[in-house]
Amino acid sequence: MPLRDYIEKAKEVLDKNWTGEYTVPSVHLYPHQWNWDSGFIAIGYSRYNMERATRELLHLFEAQWKNGMLPQIVFNKNALGRYFPEPDFWQTDLSPNAPKNVLTSGITMPPIHGYAVLKMYENAREKDRLIPFLKFIYPKIIKLHEYLYLERNPDDNGLIYIRHPWESGMDNSPMWDPVLNRIDITKVKIPEFERKDNKIIDPEQRPKDIDYKRYIYLVDIFRKNRYDEKKIFEECPFIVIDPLFNSILCASNEALVQIADIIKEDYKKPEEWFLMTARAVRDNLFSSEKKIFFAYDYIQKELIEVETAAGFMPLFGGIASTQQALKLYEHLDSLSFCRLGEKNCFAIPNYDKKKKDFSPHNYWRGPVWININWMLYQGLLRYKFKQKAEHLEITIMELPMRFGFYEYFDSFTGKGYGTKDFSWTAALFIDLAYDMYEKSEKKWETRSFGKEIILNINGEHLPVEDVEEIKKDFFCLTGKIIEKYTRNGTVNYDAIRLSPEYKLLQNTISKFANKDILKFDSKEEEMAFWINLYNMMVIDAIIRLNIQGSVKEIEGFFTNIKYRINGKDYSLDDIREILRKFGDKRVPFALVKGTNSSPPLRLFTKKNIKSKLNSAARDFIRSPEVIILPEEKKILISELFRWNEHYFKDKDEIINFIKKYVKDDTKREFLDKEDDIEIRYLLYDWTLNG
Ligand code: DGY
Repeated sequence: MPLRDYIEKAKEVLDKNWTGEYTVPSVHLYPHQWNWDSGFIAIGYSRYNMERATRELLHLFEAQWKNGMLPQIVFNKNALGRYFPEPDFWQTDLSPNAPKNVLTSGITMPPIHGYAVLKMYENAREKDRLIPFLKFIYPKIIKLHEYLYLERNPDDNGLIYIRHPWESGMDNSPMWDPVLNRIDITKVKIPEFERKDNKIIDPEQRPKDIDYKRYIYLVDIFRKNRYDEKKIFEECPFIVIDPLFNSILCASNEALVQIADIIKEDYKKPEEWFLMTARAVRDNLFSSEKKIFFAYDYIQKELIEVETAAGFMPLFGGIASTQQALKLYEHLDSLSFCRLGEKNCFAIPNYDKKKKDFSPHNYWRGPVWININWMLYQGLLRYKFKQKAEHLEITIMELPMRFGFYEYFDSFTGKGYGTKDFSWTAALFIDLAYDMYEKSEKKWETRSFGKEIILNINGEHLPVEDVEEIKKDFFCLTGKIIEKYTRNGTVNYDAIRLSPEYKLLQNTISKFANKDILKFDSKEEEMAFWINLYNMMVIDAIIRLNIQGSVKEIEGFFTNIKYRINGKDYSLDDIREILRKFGDKRVPFALVKGTNSSPPLRLFTKKNIKSKLNSAARDFIRSPEVIILPEEKKILISELFRWNEHYFKDKDEIINFIKKYVKDDTKREFLDKEDDIEIRYLLYDWTLNG
């Protein structure tokens, strides 16, 4: 179980960064507690250590301000002197709202906490035990949102502003350049300060000095105004509506509605907030022409037309309309960000790769960040862009497995930058890895029929018909069902059950029972016939036997369920055997077993079979079922390879096959040149692909 080794490594990172009360993002660079980091970290912990997950958030909320603001940093009194700016600079004691015994900064961060708490609940094994925590934290998160809707909502329309780039979490994103560039540092007075970050990390990977001058200038405005929101709003030159911040807020509002339901609280408030903010973002921040959401410069009253990953976040917040989602997808899956099948690119970089000032290694000006990709992954799943979601899933896991648990990663080479042993990278890796395990280890209650079930005999006396016509109907109906009722690897079994096409298909297949249907004019036609028959038989069996969770529910699913053809009965395994004689290694990747680990359904015909088999194999090799780790000299692959030993007799055969479909040059070179590659098997996810 190789993934376990990496999970252990990720846990070691969190252990190292755990202080006994909360987790620092990284011991050297960020030695205090950070607001949204703790949200992501709690999600990771909730997979295996719920006590730490709850303590993480409880500690953060102890620092909540009286007006509800949740500070960006909670300082560790014992670790002062290693980071800038610290409490002596923030001087938050000037504010009547700041807590008395806790040291904090004077700004906030994206409010991920409602969402994180719901995830914790979903991950909890003993859900009841988490209820007191939910009851305790719920009003605190409501208070945080209340602060945002009261103090940061100037037009009362649900668009919440941020007043510092650090509040976006994406500090030096090019999105903020147009606003920050208006602060003329030669004309304003900037307090003296000394940076610490660029002594620890290569300055090339960090914000520039001029950025810091502007950051500090803004902090100075806050403290001069004693953190009075109204006065700051009047004076601050950075008042911006960020699509990332507002999308995360929506996701949390939505989660609060569910939490309220669990703890039997009234959910009207978060529901109204969700609807108000979602509508306002949808109506005001989307550019149909540029196919992305933009930030809004509240002072200039204009959209900031800079394309960053934040612009896709309304997928995460459930904000985007279907039309907007389709446009976002087109843009996200383009050379500007990272196209499926594009060579040498890793996940979604934080800024449009085609821009001249794109940097693959500088902080928020281009690299790949794990939390952003994790949220996009959730958003893509939500909007059913399964293939892209899976691609992100694999990259989010692959990057730290190959390069280490870094803060951010090079968008072209994958190399890790910033600080190493970064907490949210480890935590979100754990989240996805556990997901993989839990799905594959799930057990289903089995039903046994104790005998064979022949699906296609209904006892009717059938009229005489031309065999070729029957076969034509079969191919045509298979095509229609795939086209209308499956999308991106997901099968809508309920819709198929009720569809006219399915009735006709059942009727057609019942004609096979007594007809000599197995005469083919070519090898291609024969292969296409059997592959389609296998795939349709799986669907037919799932529907007729009312399978809900997995084909594993039925004992002997692959051996006892059969179709009769010209008086002879064939099980799914029999069809697999028949297909073996063609000796085509791509066939196993075309057979859809009705599971989450299966490839998407395709119609095979004698004309398209060569190209369709190719795309089936290629998509499988590029899915999370095959993880190639050159730096570790390892590949982790689906058990499908093991079950098809007759096609893949040894390591070389597996590697040669995978090599053909790999798009990344480094990986192909590794498979080409390395003699000593270790092969390990991933677990198979038997959950129904419905
Ligand atoms: C930093 O210090 O770079 C942090 O991102 C501020 O939150």
